[in-house]
Amino acid sequence: MYQLIRSFLFTQDAEWSHDVTIKTLKQTGGTSLDCLYGQKIENKPVELFGLTFPNPVGLAAGLDKNGECIDAFAAMGFGFIEVGTVTPRAQPGNDKPRLFRLPEAQAIINRMGFNNKGVDYLVEQVKQSKYKGILGINIGKNKDTPNEEGKNDYLVCLEKVYPYASYVTINISSPNTPGLRSLQYGEALDDLLGSIKAKQKELAEQQGQYKPVLVKIAPDMTDEEVAQVAASLIKNEIDGVIATNTTLERDKVEHLKHGKEAGGLSGVPVRRQSTHVIAQLKKELNGKMPIIGVGGINSSNAANEKLAAGAQLLQVYTGFIYRGPELIKEIVQGLDKKE
Ligand SMILES: Cc1cc2nc3c(=O)[nH]c(=O)nc-3n(C[C@H](O)[C@H](O)[C@H](O)COP(=O)(O)O)c2cc1C
Repeated sequence: MYQLIRSFLFTQDAEWSHDVTIKTLKQTGGTSLDCLYGQKIENKPVELFGLTFPNPVGLAAGLDKNGECIDAFAAMGFGFIEVGTVTPRAQPGNDKPRLFRLPEAQAIINRMGFNNKGVDYLVEQVKQSKYKGILGINIGKNKDTPNEEGKNDYLVCLEKVYPYASYVTINISSPNTPGLRSLQYGEALDDLLGSIKAKQKELAEQQGQYKPVLVKIAPDMTDEEVAQVAASLIKNEIDGVIATNTTLERDKVEHLKHGKEAGGLSGVPVRRQSTHVIAQLKKELNGKMPIIGVGGINSSNAANEKLAAGAQLLQVYTGFIYRGPELIKEIVQGLDKKE
């Protein structure tokens, strides 16, 4: 069924296809029509952060930026759903075209630039959804907020989403917001994480509920840089790390149509790079916090590669666009193949 829909959508512009799909899922999610894509996924529970994930396969951030289709994605059987990236104020993102499929490589290049309807809208969507499962909310900064004040955007979003999230992800690794990735390094990172931790403690006390904070990092880091990030995550008592976001590398796709487009590359070409970062993180973190593995997972084997490298949970985006909900089932069924 998905293959049929996909073969039509893939004849259309990528962003148009995305928008039509989101609108359809928004309208049908949580209604009896969700049987069109709903499926039952075997329980393979994972306990982490004091939460029980029914299975380790999550939806990665960026597909449902405004939290409009939470019930639809829940019906597909994801073990957890991450919405966002959301920013304090609504913003249009970069000029179109800004989303490109590279089917020969099972990849996508995007330079969306955090197009979203703002944090208040997202919170309303979350409140309206029927979903009772695990929901991550991924937060970022507005493009026109200077980097020196970027910290404030994260704090504003953290406070607004805190009561509604199972966990909150600090996204400092999108390549499409100028200067954002500089927050991953040195003093800027320590300063940001220190303030986030202080805010998390304050909110936990006020609301009587501790919500884990995770940081999402880029694959374009040297081993030394990964070690520095890991040290800062430990120092600032961050709860977990998501590895990785999209890559700026183009070596595997530059010969393909759209292969030289600016933006972040995702899907199969980022798989090894993100697995490498996960393995480095595992070494540096030494079990001190869980790792969520994401990047190029399009099969049970690719999923098990991430788990073997040190990830405890997984997320999919591009593989899900190419394979549809069946991918979730395949990964969950294949978990036992793990050595
Ligand atoms: C079109 C598109 C938009 C994305 N938007 C976001 C985003 O808003 N926030 C974020 O943290 N990651 C975003 N990502 C990155 C994905 O969540 C994921 O980390 C990355 O694509 C690697 O996984 P994949 O190979 O399974 O796609 C986006 C990816 C794509 C393809």
